[in-house]
This record gives sequence, C-alpha cells and structure tokens, in this order.
Amino acid sequence: MQTYKYEIFTSILEEQIKSGAVKLGTRLPSVREIKEKYHLSISSVQNGYDYLVMKGLVENIPRSGYFVAFNQKETIPENTIKQLAVAKNSLFNKNLELTSTRSKAFEYNSFNSTSPTDILIPQKLILRKMQEVIREKGASLLRYYPLNGSLLLREKITERSAKYGCMMNAEELIITDGALQALYIALASVTKAGDLIAVESPCVFSILEVISNLNLKTIEIPLHYKDGFDVNYFRNICDENPVRAVVVTPNFHNPTGILMTDESKKELLSIAEIHQIPIIENDIYGDLYFGGTRPSNIRSFDKTGLVMTFSSFSKTLAPGIRLGWLNPGKFYAETERLKFSLGRSVTPIYQELMIKLLESNSYDRHLRSFRKQLEKQAIELLDALRKYFPENSYFHRPQGGYSIWGELPQNLDMEAFYEYCESQKILFTPGDTFSFTDEYKYHFRAVFADRITSESILSLKKVGEKTKEFLN
Ligand SMILES: Cc1ncc(COP(=O)(O)O)c(C=O)c1O
Repeated sequence: MQTYKYEIFTSILEEQIKSGAVKLGTRLPSVREIKEKYHLSISSVQNGYDYLVMKGLVENIPRSGYFVAFNQKETIPENTIKQLAVAKNSLFNKNLELTSTRSKAFEYNSFNSTSPTDILIPQKLILRKMQEVIREKGASLLRYYPLNGSLLLREKITERSAKYGCMMNAEELIITDGALQALYIALASVTKAGDLIAVESPCVFSILEVISNLNLKTIEIPLHYKDGFDVNYFRNICDENPVRAVVVTPNFHNPTGILMTDESKKELLSIAEIHQIPIIENDIYGDLYFGGTRPSNIRSFDKTGLVMTFSSFSKTLAPGIRLGWLNPGKFYAETERLKFSLGRSVTPIYQELMIKLLESNSYDRHLRSFRKQLEKQAIELLDALRKYFPENSYFHRPQGGYSIWGELPQNLDMEAFYEYCESQKILFTPGDTFSFTDEYKYHFRAVFADRITSESILSLKKVGEKTKEFLN
C-alpha cells in the first residue's frame, strides 16, 4: 500500500540500501534524474530524500548530492536479554505512577506514557464527528446497545482487517471497553486461578497487572533483539509444563518495538496447536508501522480458532475513546458470558463515533500522517539517546509503535540516575516494571508519544552526560 507519492522511489532505494545492493557512500541519483524517471515533482523527490535522510539511510552533502550514509549499520547486541527460567507466582506490586499517570505530568518531559498526547490526537475531527453522532442519533444513544456491540461497527472493523489479510467474521467479534478489558476477558475465559501461562519478557506493566489480578502463574519467554519472541524456548517450556495460554504482542511489542516475523508467528502457532494452547494476541500497535506495509497478525494464519486477537483505538486515536474489540475464536461462548458480567454494553456514543470514522476513511487518513509523525519522533529520540548516553548503553531501534527499550551499563547507580532524571523533569519508565523478576533493573523504556522539542533534547543531553558520573 503506497501512501506518499515519493514512496515509489524511496521504497526501492530503502530496500537496495538495507540489502547492501548499493554500497555505503554510493552517490544516489540526482533529484532531476528521479523526477524524470518516476514522473514526480521536484518537491515530492525532495520530500522523499528528506524522509530517507531522517531515517539515517541517506546523507545530503550540500552542493554534491545524496549519498548512502556511512554510519547507518547498527550493531545489535546478541542475547542481551537473558533467558528467564522458572515459573513465578504473580506477585506484582509496582508503582502505577512510574508508568503512566502523575500529578503535574504536564510539567515534565513525559517519555513514559504510550498513548497519543493531546497535540497528536485529531481533536477537531473527533469532536466534529461526535457532534454529528449526537445530532443524528439523539436519545437512541442513551439505550443499551447489543451485548457484543453494534453489528455495523463490527462489520467496519472486519472490512478493515480484511485489507491486511486478516479475515474475520463480524459475528465472531465482541466490542469491549478498550484493549485491557479484552485481554481480561480472553485470559479469564481460558484459565483459572493458579494456572500457568506464558508471556513475553519484557512485558508491559498493564498486561502483568491483568495476569496478577487473575492469580495466574507465569513463565516469561525471552525476546531477542534480532529474532524477537524465542520460539524454541517456548517449545521447550510447552514440552515440559502445562501452559494454559500464551499472551503476545507480535506487532511492535511494548516496550521493545520488536516486530515478529511471519515465520515466527507461524511457528508459534504450530507449537500452540500441538499442545492446544490458546494464543492471546494483542494487536494494539499493528497499525503503527514505520514504512512498508501493515504487518499480519497471528489470527490471519489461524485455521482452528485457537487465536484470540484483540485491539483498541487507544493508541491510534485517543485513549479516552474506551473502545476495543476481541475476536475470541472458538472460545466465543465463554467470552460473551464474561463480557456481560463486566458491563452489558460499551458506551453507544463511542461505537457510533468509530462507525463514522471508519466509514468516512478519516481514521486511515489520520493514521497515515500519525505514523510519519511517530516515526520522526522515534528517530529524534533514538538519535539523542544514542548520542548523549554512555558509550556502552544500548537503545533498540523500534520498527513501529511508541517506545524505545534502553539498556544502561550494569555499574550504574540507578537510584542516582532516576533522581537526576526527576530533577530535570524527565520521566522514563523503569525496567523493573516490565517483569515479575528483577531482570530489568538496568533497563528503561523511553516513549516518543510527544513531539521532541529543543528543550527536551537539552534535558536528555544533561541527563545522558550526567549519567556518566553515576558509573561506579
Ligand atoms: C500493550 C498494551 N496493551 C493494552 C494497553 C491498554 O489499552 P486500552 O487503553 O485500550 O485498554 C496498553 C496501554 O496501556 C498497552 O501498552
């Protein structure tokens, strides 16, 4: 799916550069040559080159032209994420304040909350559509809507997902109050207290909280920077333990931004099929890809209904729109019963709002520019972190989503580090909150949900440079 005119040439160049087909330092075709070859305007070609420069693939040398950048090859550390062994009880008591809310948060450079900030929410569009809904639907918005949600909304969601190869039937969907409710329903429908489930490690605090509330035991499956979810580790765990479900975020995992390959997704599914383990798939970030096309979800490969996929519009539109969906596969009956017990119907106004946004294509139009903006912010934040933090830190380049996973040297005084961050009004999410284990003491998550300003870069510079003084 091409979204910008310039992608006709940037996608080819990007592929050639990444595959090594054009060597580092090679001079690239001039703006005029590209213009003529692809019948583009000069400004489209320049925008395309700006995009490649922003991605760090190309360098612009004034009065000489565009060249394949020399410093783009990243060294990604091997096995930096250690393997975690045994099942742990779900004892989780970490501070919510560290991950999302905080009074006076507006005074901070909040690199810690994974949802669109006020300025990136398409407020005018949403408020206009809401007014239309109220005018058109009037008092009917005050009634109960169907338990599993408006049929028209479910149809709009399935039509959209079919475009990226995920064929679902509107009758199989349940509309929920956001993604976390969908996760709660999915997990509760296939497990009981004390059961053992598998989750990715690291794993976002909010998912761990749901697991904790359901009194489940977990085995944390390592995620590797290069290959993502460790499928072989999962296979061995399943051979030896009665795993009742596995919870994964295969597309732009929070906090690492890692995208699982289709091969890994299929392999995970085949292991789950052998042991009949339901896969609970969080696809909340799937639409937030940087470049290329929308990745597939595991549900697209599932023929037996073992995959329960869910998503919401909290990350792509606005977190205040409390509306998500769950496709529970063959576990529909139990999930419908649970949904009823958690609240009979999702607020009608949000359902009608989403119908309007999906019907008019405004949602996809918004996403196209939103993705570009997020990618720009990701690159700016990554550049600043890599530039200013101590040399033996590592910051993983995300392939989409909202966050960068960072790893600091193990001789760093983390208390002093977080204290200094606070003094500079910088909020990162401590690595500790991403596991039931103590594995991530020296990690943190940096979120690029907000515009990166010269002021925030300056604060990052101060923090990065000061960090060197906290090394023992
Ligand atoms: C991975 C992940 N899933 C789900 C959620 C919550 O989504 P929702 O606001 O739709 O409940 C979050 C954010 O808090 C998240 O990071």
